[in-house]
Amino acid sequence: MRTIERVHDLRDLCDRARAAGGRVGFVPTMGYFHAGHRSLMRAARADTDLVVVSLFVNPLQFAPNEDLAAYPRDRAGDAAAAEAEGVDILFAPTTDEVYPRPPVTTVRVEGLTAGLCGRSRPTHFDGVTTVVAKLFSMVGPSRAYFGRKDAQQLAVVRRMAADLDLPVEVVGCPLVREPDGLAMSSRNAYLEPDDRRAATVLSRALEAAAAEIRAGARDADHVHRVLTGLIATEPRVQIDYAEVVAADDLTPVTEITGDVLVAVAAHVGRARLIDNMTVTVHDDQVVVDLGVVAPDPSAPESPQPEVV
Ligand code: PAJ
Repeated sequence: MRTIERVHDLRDLCDRARAAGGRVGFVPTMGYFHAGHRSLMRAARADTDLVVVSLFVNPLQFAPNEDLAAYPRDRAGDAAAAEAEGVDILFAPTTDEVYPRPPVTTVRVEGLTAGLCGRSRPTHFDGVTTVVAKLFSMVGPSRAYFGRKDAQQLAVVRRMAADLDLPVEVVGCPLVREPDGLAMSSRNAYLEPDDRRAATVLSRALEAAAAEIRAGARDADHVHRVLTGLIATEPRVQIDYAEVVAADDLTPVTEITGDVLVAVAAHVGRARLIDNMTVTVHDDQVVVDLGVVAPDPSAPESPQPEVV
């Protein structure tokens, strides 16, 4: 694996791989790798010839009151993890390399960014789409891998790629959880032990909502009450939102039918955490996708249990 800091060097290596007929797979990240990030690298490794991972804590997607300075960083640990996943290039640029001048050109996806996390983070997705468009332009991937943990981000990036005819296939990958259900996140590092225990209420609330839907509940308000009622039992957890939206355009639904996204966000200690599941309802058939549990590192041969 090569670690590269300069855009020029990155372009050079990606150009050469493409000229030799190779497909470039790309995983954009902000580092502090966990099994969720690593699952994206593994998917890219399985599908493509040159695997590029970017590690860049993008200032543009943090509001002034957010955790840019505190965002966890572990460059050496990240390099070792990427290497172990067979990554070819770790692109770890400085902020000046990505933004030599403050950009006056930005990418904004309307509509999809208005609700859910966009309500409490109104500038966040503009920062995400701008940096992802720039990174796509630097790397030139044929495929780019995003986690369904950030379901709204995935929908926004997909739409950006479609609207701008970007020659990249945006691939969504399963949400990866800790054994106790907590969605893996670099920000889990902020959690004190009591908060860490309390944080499992988010996935427990989703599971309770899933049980209701499996038992026949179709009223989105009812599901919303189940979610908020359970989350409210943990005084350490301050809910930001719990919503049932259409999976394609992220608009609120009143009835659970077709493909819906059930998404929650909450503050726990210093961390703002998000979690979600997708539910597909056709007639009496209900399929709930809560993601997968991370493989136990001490049992590398064990198959990934589905928590669907
Ligand atoms: P980051 O939070 O580092 O996440 C990088 C990628 O890992 C995203 O696609 C995210 O959805 C995925 N990911 C994170 N936790 C996951 C989990 N538990 N299961 C599955 N996938 C998971 O998302 C960003 O960085 C940034 O916004 C970025 C796209 C890099 C732009 O700066």
